[in-house]
Amino acid sequence: MSGSDKKKGSRWPQRERRAGGERRAQPDRRAAAARDGAGKAEERRQRSRRTGGERRDEQGWEPLAVEVTAVEPFSPEEALLTAARGAREFAQAHYSTIKVGAALETADGQIVTGCNIENATYGLTLCAERVALVKALSEGHTVFIRIAVVADTDAPTPPCGPCRQLLWEYCGDIDVILGSLGTVSGRHRLSALLPLPFDRRLL
Ligand code: THU
Repeated sequence: MSGSDKKKGSRWPQRERRAGGERRAQPDRRAAAARDGAGKAEERRQRSRRTGGERRDEQGWEPLAVEVTAVEPFSPEEALLTAARGAREFAQAHYSTIKVGAALETADGQIVTGCNIENATYGLTLCAERVALVKALSEGHTVFIRIAVVADTDAPTPPCGPCRQLLWEYCGDIDVILGSLGTVSGRHRLSALLPLPFDRRLL
C-alpha cells in the first residue's frame, strides 16, 4: 500500500482501490448514501412530528401516545356517496364503458351497494340501482331512505325509467342523490323523478 493510498485509506475502502478504476463509482455510492441518509432523516422528522418528538424524555424516548387531531365528521350522505364510488369500481361496463355505482341506505342506517353489470346481449344489462335494490331486498331489507348514484361524468347520471319504477315500488318516495367522483350534482325526491306513477294503488 503506498503512502498516498494510506492517506486516502480512511475514505476509500481497500476493496475498491484494488479493483482500480472503480473509484469513479464511489461518488455515486456516496451520493446515494447521502440521499438515503437525507430520506431517513426526513422520515425520522416526520415520525417525530407525528408522535410529538419534541416531548422526548431525558433518555430521548418519544411518548407512546399519539395525539389525535379532530377530523371533520363524515356525514351520512358522504358515507353513502363514498360507498357508491367504491361499488362503481366493480362495474362490468365493457360495452358502454360507463361505470356506475349505487348505494342504498336502509332505515336502520345500513348501506347496500350495487354496480352496473352489462352483457353481450346489451338488453340484459343491469343498472347499478337495480343491483343494489335486489341485493338489499334479498338480504331482508325492506325500508329505505335514500339512494346515491355515482358515475364518472360531468352530467349527473339519473336512474333510468325502469329503475325509477322499481325504486318507487320498493322504496317509495326516497331521496335520490346524484354524484360524480368528487361532487354532488343533484338531489331529488323520487316522486319528482317519477311523477304520476303507475303503482299498486291503481290495481
Ligand atoms: N346505468 C346505470 O347503471 N344506472 C343509471 O342510472 C343509468 C345507466 C348503466 C347501464 C349501462 O351499463 C350504462 O350505464 C350505460 O347505459
